[in-house]
Amino acid sequence: MIPHSQPWITESELDAVAEVTRSAMLSSGARGTALEQSLSDLLHKDTTILTGSGSQALFLILKTLEIGPGSEVILPTYVCDKVYHTVRMSGAIPVLCDIGPHWVMTPETVAPLITNHTKAIILVHTFGIKAQTEAFIQLGVPVIEDICQSLGGWSPANFSGQATQWAFGSFHGTKCISGGEGGFASFAFHAQGSRARNLLPQLPLVGRMSDVQSALVLAQLKRYSDFLNQRRKISSRYLRDLPSAWLSPAQNIAGASMFFRFPVHIHSSFTHIQQQYAIQGIAVRRGVDALIHHELGISDSLFPNAAYALENTVSLPILPQLSDEQVQHIIDISHQIYSGL
Ligand SMILES: Cc1ncc(COP(=O)(O)O)c(C=O)c1O
Repeated sequence: MIPHSQPWITESELDAVAEVTRSAMLSSGARGTALEQSLSDLLHKDTTILTGSGSQALFLILKTLEIGPGSEVILPTYVCDKVYHTVRMSGAIPVLCDIGPHWVMTPETVAPLITNHTKAIILVHTFGIKAQTEAFIQLGVPVIEDICQSLGGWSPANFSGQATQWAFGSFHGTKCISGGEGGFASFAFHAQGSRARNLLPQLPLVGRMSDVQSALVLAQLKRYSDFLNQRRKISSRYLRDLPSAWLSPAQNIAGASMFFRFPVHIHSSFTHIQQQYAIQGIAVRRGVDALIHHELGISDSLFPNAAYALENTVSLPILPQLSDEQVQHIIDISHQIYSGL
């Protein structure tokens, strides 16, 4: 079966893990410090703090900004529900926004929700598709950039997470780079980075990454341009050769996506399509497993684009290590399924 996602582990990652294991210095240490520095450099930030997960990194940022009871935080309903639960855990009130027509939240879906109590917007570049970061910053509310799905961004000179004051990411096994688990919070200003570090002892549920995980991530970061180039290469073939009715303009513009995922718009039952691919040895997924407003029993009428996207999006495999033959197989089977609809 061609997996929907899978970490890309080569000899260099195995060597890095073997080296740190032999050193017997396993908990957070020199490799973690090196990784924090590398991420700060990439994201143009003063301070980066490694955490046990992306959710813990978000929690650390919210606490650093003193966001809690009485604060409202805006986030999309079309996102991993850990983001929602983390905001709840901070004591703040999560306010859900719809996405635009192509999976990503827009200033238009967010602006009407801003009140005097809004203390932050969590800006997600869903599937690696670039949200309008500058326009969000112009809304005048602190923007916390969620780059869990967009590490690397849109060109070597234009990384996601660089333009905002706060960014966080994840090294979960399904993410752009994997440490198995792990995450990071990055701060543009020294005072806030120091404040976050000083808060850590009071937040015992915000864990740290071990040096084994950091070594694994550092090894992947060293060859990260290969990851991004491979994603670009596969996406060019998809954009050229997949059924054009399934393609979205949101991805077909240079620099519009870093292609963490390759979602397509289908106009058929997701479950039916998933079965068709599975018979041919291809694992596909929904874009997100569920919508947060469904968990809360809120009607789809407030979130029409997200409701449509849940039912009509198929996420195709775009892992960097796919072979040319596997990519061709995915394209061929997509045409077969499309013509049978
Ligand atoms: C967009 C987004 N934000 C946040 C998270 C949470 O990251 P983690 O699973 O490391 O807590 C995820 C991943 O699941 C995600 O996809």
